[in-house]
Amino acid sequence: MSLTLGVLASGRGSNFLAVQKEIEAGRLDATIAVLISDREHAPALDLAREHGIKSVHHAYDRSDRTVFEKAAAETLEAHDCDLMLLAGFMRILTPDFINRFPGKILNIHPSLLPSFKGLHPQQQALDAGVKFSGCTVHVVTAELDAGPIVAQAVVPVEDEDNEDTLSARILEKEHTIYAEAIREIERRQS
Ligand code: GRF
Repeated sequence: MSLTLGVLASGRGSNFLAVQKEIEAGRLDATIAVLISDREHAPALDLAREHGIKSVHHAYDRSDRTVFEKAAAETLEAHDCDLMLLAGFMRILTPDFINRFPGKILNIHPSLLPSFKGLHPQQQALDAGVKFSGCTVHVVTAELDAGPIVAQAVVPVEDEDNEDTLSARILEKEHTIYAEAIREIERRQS
């Protein structure tokens, strides 16, 4: 079954781009209908435009998260999205938003969950002294970084790593597992 995807991204958008490239290469049977950002100048918006994908900025008001979420949900529904991808989306979604798309929101997180939830997971891994870390794609639930795991990849931690070098090594794997997770969701639905 070919899925229609909606992406939420706050920043550079490399995970979005990796998924889009898999689609363009014919290795992933899906379409990204829209990319939404909470940041007006997010590079992800430009990347989407360059790939002919509708890109939309909805302003984020910290004092009332529901304004962004209502606009984002309406945009996703207007584009008939079957599956939402959080790809470097740096806001915590309310249970109301998550429950509007139950089991249909995925997130990618740069650690082997359930270890190192939240911010700076790569630095958390270094501080803990683990020899292996990695990345996880999981279904989003109301509890942060805690929903059912769909795909993971392991990445070795080198003695000389710092947050930047470990993040870069993990990011390479992130760029393969998001598409893998979407294929897995497609398999489950067919
Ligand atoms: C990635 O490391 C992702 O796992 C985390 O934020 C980063 C986003 O990178 N949630 P990009 O915007 O996809 O390049």
